[in-house]
Order: sequence, then C-alpha cells, then structure tokens
Amino acid sequence: MLSQMTLEEKIGQMNQYNGFWEVTGPPPSSGDDATKYENLKKGLVGSMLNVHGVENVRKVQELVVNQSRLGIPLIIGFDVVHGYRTMSPIPLAEAASWDLEAIEHSARIAAEEASASGVAWTFAPMVDISRDARWGRVMEGGGEDPYLGAKIAAARVKGFQGDDLSAENTIAACAKHFAAYGFAEGGRDYNTVDISHATLYNHVFPPFQAAVDAGVSTIMNSFNELNGTPATASSFLQRDILKGLWGFEGFVVSDWASIEEIVDHRNATSRREAASIAIKAGSDMDMASSTYLNNLKNLVESGEVPERLIDDAVCRILQVKHDLGLLEDPFRYLDEDREKNIVGCEAHQEAVLDMAQKSVVLLKNEQELLPLPKEGKTIALIGPLADDKNSPLGNWRGRAIDSSAVSVLEGLNAYPGNHVLYAKGCEYLLEEGDYIAHPVINIDDRSGFGKAVDAAEKADVVVMVLGEGANQSGEARSRSSLGLLGVQQELLEAVYQVNPNIVLVLMSGRPMAITWADENIPAILEAWLLGSQSGHAIAQVLHGDYNPSGKLPMTFPRTVGQVPLFYNHKISARPWDPEADNVYLGGYVDGSVYPLYPFGHGLSYTHFEYDNLQVEKTGDQEFSVSIQLGNTGNYDGEEVVQLYICDRVASETRPVKELKGFKKVKLRKGEECSIQFKLGEKELGYYLNSGQFIVEPGTFDLWVGTSSMEGLHTQFEIK
Ligand code: NOJ
Repeated sequence: MLSQMTLEEKIGQMNQYNGFWEVTGPPPSSGDDATKYENLKKGLVGSMLNVHGVENVRKVQELVVNQSRLGIPLIIGFDVVHGYRTMSPIPLAEAASWDLEAIEHSARIAAEEASASGVAWTFAPMVDISRDARWGRVMEGGGEDPYLGAKIAAARVKGFQGDDLSAENTIAACAKHFAAYGFAEGGRDYNTVDISHATLYNHVFPPFQAAVDAGVSTIMNSFNELNGTPATASSFLQRDILKGLWGFEGFVVSDWASIEEIVDHRNATSRREAASIAIKAGSDMDMASSTYLNNLKNLVESGEVPERLIDDAVCRILQVKHDLGLLEDPFRYLDEDREKNIVGCEAHQEAVLDMAQKSVVLLKNEQELLPLPKEGKTIALIGPLADDKNSPLGNWRGRAIDSSAVSVLEGLNAYPGNHVLYAKGCEYLLEEGDYIAHPVINIDDRSGFGKAVDAAEKADVVVMVLGEGANQSGEARSRSSLGLLGVQQELLEAVYQVNPNIVLVLMSGRPMAITWADENIPAILEAWLLGSQSGHAIAQVLHGDYNPSGKLPMTFPRTVGQVPLFYNHKISARPWDPEADNVYLGGYVDGSVYPLYPFGHGLSYTHFEYDNLQVEKTGDQEFSVSIQLGNTGNYDGEEVVQLYICDRVASETRPVKELKGFKKVKLRKGEECSIQFKLGEKELGYYLNSGQFIVEPGTFDLWVGTSSMEGLHTQFEIK
C-alpha cells in the first residue's frame, strides 16, 4: 500500500481530526470545518475522534472511502473510558474491586456498545500511576500501585480488544498517557514531572509494559514534560523504551495538540520544529493540531526528516487498520440494527450493577450499624448527591444519557419495608450543566439545613450522600483541598447534632480527607461514582444484599498537606516513630504522618481470620507462599488476600512494602481455605536507576493480610 501512496497521502494517515460536533480539548488553532471536509476527500486524514453513531461514522467514512484517491478508511476513535451508553463505575472505583475478571468484562461491554455505534478505537485504558489525590485524573486510572495497575491494564486491554481485533464487537485499545503524567507537580493537571529513572522503571512503566504484553494496539503519549523533555518529544520514551526495549509494534498517537504544544513547553521555536522533533521522537499520529499535516511534507522535502520515519509511522497505522479489518471492509462496524439492539441494552445493566457492587469500599462500620434492616425502620436520606441521577455517570461518560443513573433515593425506595424521608440539605457545587468552564464550587446556601435536620430527628438511622459531583474530578479538575466542598461538612455536623446514627455514603472521583467524619460517624462507605446502576448497588450494599468486598487502590490522607501519600514509600534514615524520644524525625509538628485509610483497606460484614503463613523455597530465586483463610463471621463474603514484600537492604533503596500478589476469594460463613502464591524473579527484583533489572541476595520481609497495614509477617532469604 505504502508504495502506492504519495508523500502527502502518507502524512494524511498521520493526521487525526476532531469531529465536527464536540471537543474534548481546547479548540484547535488551525483547520476549520470546510478545510476538514476538503481534506477528508483528498485523503489527508487518517483518523477522526469524537465521531460516533453509525449514521455519523458512515458519513465521514463514505467521504474518505468513496472520494479520496486510495480510499483508505479512517480509524474512528473516542474516549470510551468506563462505558459507552451503559456506564460502569469510574476506573478508580473498578480498581477497588481488585476483580480482574469483572474489570475485563466491564471493558468488554464498553467495546460491545462502542463498536455497535461505529467506534473502532478507544482512548483507554488510562494506566497512569498516581500518588496525588489532588490530581483530578486519578478517577481514570487504577490508583497508586504498579503491580495492581499492571494487572488491571492487561485486563482492560483484553476486555476492549478480545481475542480477535477484527471481530465486529471488539475495538482497539490505547494505553495512556506515556509517560509519568500522574506525577504532575502539585497535582495540577498538565504540570511538570521531574522524577528519577528508578521511579519511572519501577512505578510508572509496569502498567504500560503490561498493556504492551497484552497486545495493546496503540499508545497515547502525554501532555507533561518529563525531566526536561516533553513526553511527545521524547525519543527515550517512545523509541528507546516503547518501540525498542518492549518491541511495541502498534502506533503512538499524540495527546490533544501535544505536538503543537512542544512550542508552548518552549522546547521548539516553531510548529515546524515541533513536527520535526515529534516524528523523530516516535509520535506517529497527530491528534487535533494539524502540525504534521502542515509541516512534515516540507521537512521531508528539505531533507530534515528522513522519509523512512514517515513510512514507519504510516505502516504502524495501516497495520492497526488492517488488524481491525477496516482495510477489508471499511463499513464493518456500521450496522444500524446492531446499534439499536446493543447500545444500552438491558443485559448490560446487569453487568454494570455487578461491577458497581464490587467497587464499593466499606471504610468503617462501628457497632455493626451496617447492614441496615430491610423492614420497619425510618431512614432519613440526606445530601446533595442523594437524589442525583447525573453525577454517578462520572466524568468520561461517553454517550451516556444525562441523568440516566439510578439515584440512591431510587435505590432505597426499592426496599419498601423501610420508610425513607428525603431532604437534599445543600448543593455540592456548581452551575448546572456547566461542563467546560470552571465550576463555582463554594455555594453557601444553608436554607435546606432545617428540613434535613427535621428528617434526621424523625429517623432511626440517617444515610448521608455527600462528596463530589461528576465534574469535580477528571481532566483539568485538580483540587487544592480534599475535604467536602461547599457547606456539606456543615450539613453533616448539623445533622450529627440531632442524630449521630449516620451512615456516610461518600461519592468521589478521588481519595478524600474526611477526618472529622472518620472520628465521628459510625459507618462510612466509599461509593465513588458508580455508573448507571449506582443507586441500586449502594442500596444493596447498605441492606446486606451484597457484602462489600472492595479494597482501596489509593491511600486516603488525613489532610491535603500529607499528599502525595502512598504506602510504597522509602523508609528514610529518620522515619517518624511516635515512641521515640527524639524530635529529629520525619514527622509533622501539627499532625499525623499516617493515612486515614491505607492502600488495600476495605471492610466486610463478615470477619476473615488469617493463619499459618508459610514460605517455602522452590528454586534458586523462587518461593511458594501459603496461608489459611477462614470466614469466621456471620455472613458469606469475599476477601482480597494481599501479599507484600520488602527487600530489606539493597544497592538502591527499596520501598517499605510492595504489593506482589493478591487473590480475591469467596468464602461462605464458617468456611476456610488455603491460598497459594508464587514469587519469582519478576516479583523479587527491581530496576536500578540505570534501567538494569536485578535480583539481589539478602533478607526479605513478607506479609500476607487484609490491607497494606495489617497482615501476618515472616521473612525469607535469597542466597
Ligand atoms: C485529552 C486527554 O488527555 C486524553 O486522555 C483524551 O483521550 C483526549 N483528550 C481525547 O479526548
């Protein structure tokens, strides 16, 4: 194919236009709609994003296929991040399930619906590790841990792509944002990243490498600079690591205008120079900025950019189109009947309900306030998110219908044995419907407090649904505080004055610092933003029809000042020790160093007992670990058994704990089982700053338990 193409047509394949109907970034500074139409017909466009629906996709595909000289079909991309029409929980919530099968299935459903709507490619999974809850995009990823993150990345890629990319119900995936976007300074989106190579290799890369190993078709680079070079301009990242070391054969798409933005980073003087830098660095497709289209031809003709770089990029793009079956049949995803039957179908609601239940994390449950009785109680349901049908759909909501989620009020009303008194209390934000502009977040209207307090006075138990709305996390939604916004905290305290028997249901796209609630409220449930079936999932957990099994994929801090706070930190020479008679330690004079809820934390209505931890050497650098687990409580339930290690002394210092295995097991009450793990080189070794992977002899700590802070402990030796 390549040999039939003119240089201009080749560059066209590397050009991705945004659709004509919506934007997911700042409007491009070049290329109006009329030019776009003309360029589609001239074969100067290889891909479009934000075009969806069989009818719309057919329109643009026909233009290209029927009118351009070679008729090479477009690859149509869209952000199908946690669902297309039927919404799954936000990815951070799904990560809390630690249930890889369920996560894969959730991506599968998203792919079913997106592909039925003409979309061939999703910009997901987002696999950025982040330790900073201020960063709005933590809602899109798998949390702070590279081991869990890598497992989830692979599961999501498999879910989207299936076994056969050319099947009509699979789509190409895109692991993003390569790399280190989650380490932005101050948690501010798009901000500078300056981290060591050891952090890069040991923490940032593993989910990307897992995605590549799982066969991901594409990778998106990132907006941030990394150690002085914009990621889009980094040939270390894209050529040396991704395409070199890992042998990635798919293509790299830039993030929105990130090629043009090499100029804004002040790493190039002109767009022309930016295009030259980006192609040399290995960015294959230009999203939305037309920088390649407007500059590459001239750069090749003047001899500044070798044509073989263009050929390589185009081959990669054509290969993915071929894998999708588009070259054989450009209209293969375009079937109106399939679209009608599959998008938003009933069967998918059931699957997202299952995923939503599994994503809930029970943070606290004193005196077994939960589960609630199903009969004979008066429940006051209070809070700005209690009857919200929109926020649970999350930020990247694909083609979800606005306000189509089941609210908590609706969920509770499905239990008619209890009497529900609803009062909104206050707002959680914001100007209604205002998505792009920055929301006004400090609404201070307290006029609803009276009704809320009245309801609480009359109730046996109060369920308060507080937290963040859908647009308070996500891209460009960073925060400088992590408490409840507006007057929600005041509302909580006012209600507490009259009825402290409160279950706090927290909706959020990130860990929140709810320290007062932890000290005063007896039961707290992290309900994230759970998607289409949110209210039913929450009500079923509250009433014990689902026994919560989620575990935190990110540490919850006590205050924003502790952030970035993560479990797998280094020890330092002077770690905080509350018992020590010495002030020269790494603590705070005004607060705790410990998290509010640690990574891996999550309670159940039942109780799990750990016993008999054994480690056996099975090879040179291989160990087998076993443990007995018993369900000694009063309910059937599921536990995520977590294995952590610490390489005590090493050539380059190692974290105090690192997750290296987990298993989610279901046990009936009274049942017990034995669980095995294997540890090999991959788990026991680490990357040095030089990028070299080594396994070193010495003593290792090992814990197996219910969170990163609890567990049975033993040690083993590598000789
Ligand atoms: C910018 C975001 O960073 C990226 O994740 C997304 O896929 C693109 N916009 C396209 O919407």
